[in-house]
Amino acid sequence: MRNYIKPLLLSLPFVHYGAAAPPFTPSGGLGTNSTPPKYVPMSDFDFQSLNLALNQEWIELDLFHNGLARFSSEEFEAAGITPEDQFLIQKMADQEVGHATMLSNILQGAGAKPCNYTYPFNTVREFVDFSQKLTRWGEAGVYGFIEHLDSRAAASLLVQSITVEARQQLIFRQFEGLFPTPESFETGLTQSMAWTLLAPYLTSCPEENPRIEWQNFPGLNVTNAYPLDNSSVAALSTNRTALSVPGQNITLAWEAPGKTVGYDGKYTTNTTAGPPLVNYLTFPLYSLVDLEYLVCRLDFTIEYHFHPS
Ligand SMILES: *[C@@H]1O[C@H](CO)[C@@H](O)[C@H](O)[C@H]1NC(C)=O
Ligand SMILES: *[C@@H]1O[C@H](CO)[C@@H](O)[C@H](O)[C@H]1NC(C)=O
Ligand SMILES: *[C@@H]1O[C@H](CO)[C@@H](O)[C@H](O)[C@H]1NC(C)=O
Ligand SMILES: *[C@@H]1O[C@H](CO)[C@@H](O)[C@H](O)[C@H]1NC(C)=O
Ligand SMILES: *[C@@H]1O[C@H](CO)[C@@H](O)[C@H](O)[C@H]1NC(C)=O
Ligand SMILES: *[C@@H]1O[C@H](CO)[C@@H](O)[C@H](O)[C@H]1NC(C)=O
Repeated sequence: MRNYIKPLLLSLPFVHYGAAAPPFTPSGGLGTNSTPPKYVPMSDFDFQSLNLALNQEWIELDLFHNGLARFSSEEFEAAGITPEDQFLIQKMADQEVGHATMLSNILQGAGAKPCNYTYPFNTVREFVDFSQKLTRWGEAGVYGFIEHLDSRAAASLLVQSITVEARQQLIFRQFEGLFPTPESFETGLTQSMAWTLLAPYLTSCPEENPRIEWQNFPGLNVTNAYPLDNSSVAALSTNRTALSVPGQNITLAWEAPGKTVGYDGKYTTNTTAGPPLVNYLTFPLYSLVDLEYLVCRLDFTIEYHFHPS
């Protein structure tokens, strides 16, 4: 109890003065004239973006429950994940209930209901690794569209949920013994990229679920990806900052378009980029130490931009 008293007392003066007179506000800003915010989709773009995010929240909720139900406490502990850590995963599932409820409310009942899913894991470590990746593209998918939403109010609530998802992603990296935050900036993905990553794990959905109106791109696989190994265990941080090294060749393979993906056979991969010039590609990753950024074009030419030295 004592822990809660101090922050509460500290907040009282702000509550008091805030109600009496708003503090000085510099001119400018949007939505600052006390008009109540409207937490609703204001365009088809909003609806389709938020409904995609809702599908993402539903699978996270199911995934965390699935992992906790499928593996025993002892199996988790063998992977370095203590009973208290396991409770943290349970708490994450509770957070997903909150996120899904919020998005369902914004979509006013017209959004997706939970589906059946398929998961690519048989061990605790594989579960943690998949959870780490799923929360990663869930986060990146939202960053990609949030600034384009017509509803600034909905965007604001969504970002408040996605910051929690970002923490979940970091924690799953820690459960895997990976460096928790290897980057300075998180990636933003378009909705079609996020839907392409998500679709393979949805097997069947309620008939009334609205069609997800984003494109399914053909898969692009890294065919020589570093295999999941047991050389790290759960830790707050480790020096395992990267799973690839400068100079390593990465081999990629495009799938041909026209593959059925997603739930109930309703989605087909497609591309408007034309057929890939090559189906298999190997390119070396040069030392990234002096690299500022690189541009990978769809025709596979790559531009390297180095820091001026
Ligand atoms: C999930 O799968 C079960 C068993 O096949 C089926 O009865 C149920 O209708 C499915 N639910 C959805 C939402 O597709
Ligand atoms: C890692 O450990 C798990 C559980 O003991 C085992 O099933 C799996 O084969 C191991 N993976 C590797 C690559 O050794
Ligand atoms: C971790 O990596 C940093 C940077 O390469 C290095 O300076 C440090 O010595 C490493 N620490 C350990 C414990 O390996
Ligand atoms: C990467 O591929 C290039 C071109 O095929 C080859 O010359 C080079 O030796 C490869 N490097 C490694 C580290 O395998
Ligand atoms: C890409 O990976 C998926 C999942 O492992 C696999 O089903 C598919 O055949 C792969 N496609 C290519 C072109 O490597
Ligand atoms: C892919 O999209 C194009 C353009 O919308 C369309 O003409 C084509 O039939 C589609 N292909 C498949 C396999 O869906």
